Amino acid sequence: MARLFLDTANVEEIREATRWGILDGVTTNPTLMMRAGTADLKANTLKIVDLVQGPVSAEVVATDAGGMIEEARKILSWSEHVFVKIPCTAEGLKAIREISTWPNGRVNATLIFSPTQAYLVAKAGASYASIFVGRMDDAGLDGMEVVRQTRDIFDNYGFHCQLLAASIRHTAHVVDALLAGADIITLPFGVLQKMIRSPFTDVGLERFLADWEKVAGG
Ligand code: E4P
Repeated sequence: MARLFLDTANVEEIREATRWGILDGVTTNPTLMMRAGTADLKANTLKIVDLVQGPVSAEVVATDAGGMIEEARKILSWSEHVFVKIPCTAEGLKAIREISTWPNGRVNATLIFSPTQAYLVAKAGASYASIFVGRMDDAGLDGMEVVRQTRDIFDNYGFHCQLLAASIRHTAHVVDALLAGADIITLPFGVLQKMIRSPFTDVGLERFLADWEKVAGG
C-alpha cells in the first residue's frame, strides 16, 4: 500500500488531514517551517508527531557531515516517530552512512534528482529516498522518469530504502507516482484537497438530494 504524507509544517492543515483518516506521515523542510512562521523545530515537530502518530521528517541545516550528525542525534532523540532529513551531497552521504548504523538511525535522504543519487543514499543506508519530481518538471526535465528508474533499481537489488515521491505539484503527479510504484507520496494540503474533489460528484449529489426531496419531502 502506498503511504500518503503531507508536505507541510502547518499544524492546522495536518490536524484537518488527520481527520480524513488517510494520513500516514508528514515531511517538513526549512522553507515549510518558514511558511508556517516558526523557527522552533523541536516544538513544531513534536506538535505534528502528536497529531500524526506516524513518521515525521525534520531537516538538518548543517552542511558538513559532523554538523549533520550532531543535529541528527538531537532530532532523532525527540521521538521514535521522527526521521532526520539529510541532503544528498557527499557530506550528506558520510552522515547517512554513520547515522544509519544507530539503533534509531531513521534517515530521509532529501534533494534527490537522479537515479544515481537515489542508489547512493540507499547504499549508504537511508530509510527513505526523496525524489523531487516537481522541481525537475519545473526545469523541463521528466521528474517521474527518475521515480520509475529508481523503482527498477531498488527492485533489481532488493534495497530496503523506501522510494518517496516528493515535490508533488498536482493530482496527475499523484496518479503517476502511484503507477510508478512509489512507496510514499508526500504532497501539499492543496493537492490532497483536489484529490477528493470532482464537479461530477457535486452535481451527482445535488441531483440525488433533489430527487429524494421530491419523493420523500412530502
Ligand atoms: C520533500 O520532502 C520536500 O519537502 C518537498 O516535497 C519540496 O517540494 P517543493 O518543490 O514543493 O519545495
